[in-house]
Amino acid sequence: MCGIVGYVGALNATQRILSGLQRLEYRGYDSAGIAIHNNDCIQICRDVGKLSNLKSRIRDYPIYGNLGIGHTRWATHGEPSEHNAHPHVSMHGDFVVVHNGIVENYLDLRNQLQTDGVIFQSETDTEVIVQLIEKFAQEDTKRDITESTRLAVQKIKGAHAIVVMSRHQPDTLIAVRIGNAGGVTIGLGENENYIASDISAIVEHTRNMIFLQSHQIATITATHYTVQTIDAKPVTPEIRHIDWNPVSVAKGEYRHFMLKEIYEQPQSITNSISGRIDFETQQVNLPDLNLTASDAKQLERMITVACGTSYYSGLVGKFYIEKFARLNVEVDYGSEYRYRDPILNNKSAVLAITQSGETVDTLSAMEEARDKGATLWSIVNNIGSQAMHISDGHITMNAGPEIGVASTKAFTTSLVDQLLLSLYLGQLRGTLSTKQRTQAIHDIAKLPDLIGKALDQNDAILELAHELYHAKNFLYIGRGINYPIALEGALKLKEISYIHAEGYPAGEMKHGPIALIDEQLPVLAIAPKDSLYEKMISQIEQAKARGGIVIAVATEGDQIIEEKADYVIYVPKSPALLNPIVNVISLQLLAYHIAVLRGADVDQPRNLAKSVTVE
Ligand code: AGP
Repeated sequence: MCGIVGYVGALNATQRILSGLQRLEYRGYDSAGIAIHNNDCIQICRDVGKLSNLKSRIRDYPIYGNLGIGHTRWATHGEPSEHNAHPHVSMHGDFVVVHNGIVENYLDLRNQLQTDGVIFQSETDTEVIVQLIEKFAQEDTKRDITESTRLAVQKIKGAHAIVVMSRHQPDTLIAVRIGNAGGVTIGLGENENYIASDISAIVEHTRNMIFLQSHQIATITATHYTVQTIDAKPVTPEIRHIDWNPVSVAKGEYRHFMLKEIYEQPQSITNSISGRIDFETQQVNLPDLNLTASDAKQLERMITVACGTSYYSGLVGKFYIEKFARLNVEVDYGSEYRYRDPILNNKSAVLAITQSGETVDTLSAMEEARDKGATLWSIVNNIGSQAMHISDGHITMNAGPEIGVASTKAFTTSLVDQLLLSLYLGQLRGTLSTKQRTQAIHDIAKLPDLIGKALDQNDAILELAHELYHAKNFLYIGRGINYPIALEGALKLKEISYIHAEGYPAGEMKHGPIALIDEQLPVLAIAPKDSLYEKMISQIEQAKARGGIVIAVATEGDQIIEEKADYVIYVPKSPALLNPIVNVISLQLLAYHIAVLRGADVDQPRNLAKSVTVE
């Protein structure tokens, strides 16, 4: 969950690393640190809290050098403090390490090293890595940094992303990836090279990237790199050209990344559709899925695995896939799936939805599915991520970098991708009529415009936020395809404003949660003009009868609802299948404005991180 950046080249490493860390701060923000090689010694600066604290220290006491590593931390072992912040340094000061992951056997290793006389300076699990590297280097002075690191990582258990530098090799960085502790991306520049947890940290400097795979170790100088396996077998890595626009990782005119990303949705959805629908032939094409018609026809069921917002996306996708592909879909939490011995075979497809492609729970669910012989697909935003790598086929969200910890544009693009997947599967399986296909494609083409219209309600939603931001609890209700949107709306509110909010299927209200309703409780009811509209109206009446403050998300032009609800957020009239994608925009804006009015840190909410790489 931490962010890592490394630099080797002719420029000042400090600046490059700090600007990279700024882009990665969404991954962890309880402390940060940097280590720079300078005239035979390594200078380290660390501070608790946000990166801005570290930056102002470095402004007061600048450090210069051409080789360095930096880290922004999300604490697992040892409280957030200066001495627990990375980089960690070995006892004799010969090596420094930054790390993402958990050393599962760190207590045993720490005891062993302490028995050998090593003195530890932190309470972290990470420190054993750097002490081990130094121990291996001292045992045999002919061992270089790569070899000592290779031997050290063979001793540690768990999943890791590690970057190492040595006082004695002022031109070299080592990067290691073991398992699913987050990505290790190597950015190849002109007489300079980078290492980063993900593309966003370095895309402004280079677009040519290598994505290290599990059990690989890279040795990197300003002009060369070599990659080998942890067992010292040489590897020829694939270099990928990334066409992300560097501007897309800057906040621009917006006060927060989250707001910028909410407003980017007409474009990100256009990007996700683009090239995948042939509007002339009215066909959907998803070549990266690597699927033949005969394979598609023999599928008997699909299981979607995901976490958080991505899980709610899967709940909406179930409606699409069952409707158009006539494939039975189950949706499960990545964090739960592997703990119940799921029944899978070669007639099952498992779809992982994960914007980061690094969520360890989702990756573990995928591995479970792979072991049981299922076909593995992923919908991923982060190009080159592990989820994409281990899948048989994938769909990229094409949302561009999402920096705000609360997911917005990745959610809506993943909905569009599942809609495309359902049409594609329907085509291949022969379950989709020409009429259905033409209608769906016609509807999808209108989506960016509908999202734009939903965004036009921003001022009205801000006004509403002023009325509601003192509330202590919220209930979100929806039915059918809009029930997952109630869940997502509640999650958005709680994660950025810290207001307790629950999403509920509207019809279930009378089976329990109705007891909560009083004059203090805002009840947000998603009630577009669809086949369940009347039923939603009666839920609204029930909430009103108990004194609840009802906020309805309703279709523009609906006057009846104005008499029923206390407040109405209007959304443009849209086809039923697109309703969730359009409706969620207003819930994103509402959560955003409430959080800002409460003074919360919208882009970096407390205790959260963007890539959840620990279990
Ligand atoms: C979204 O707002 C959350 N921060 C979180 O629930 C997130 O969706 C979840 O951790 C899954 O992440 P992924 O899509 O990167 O796998």
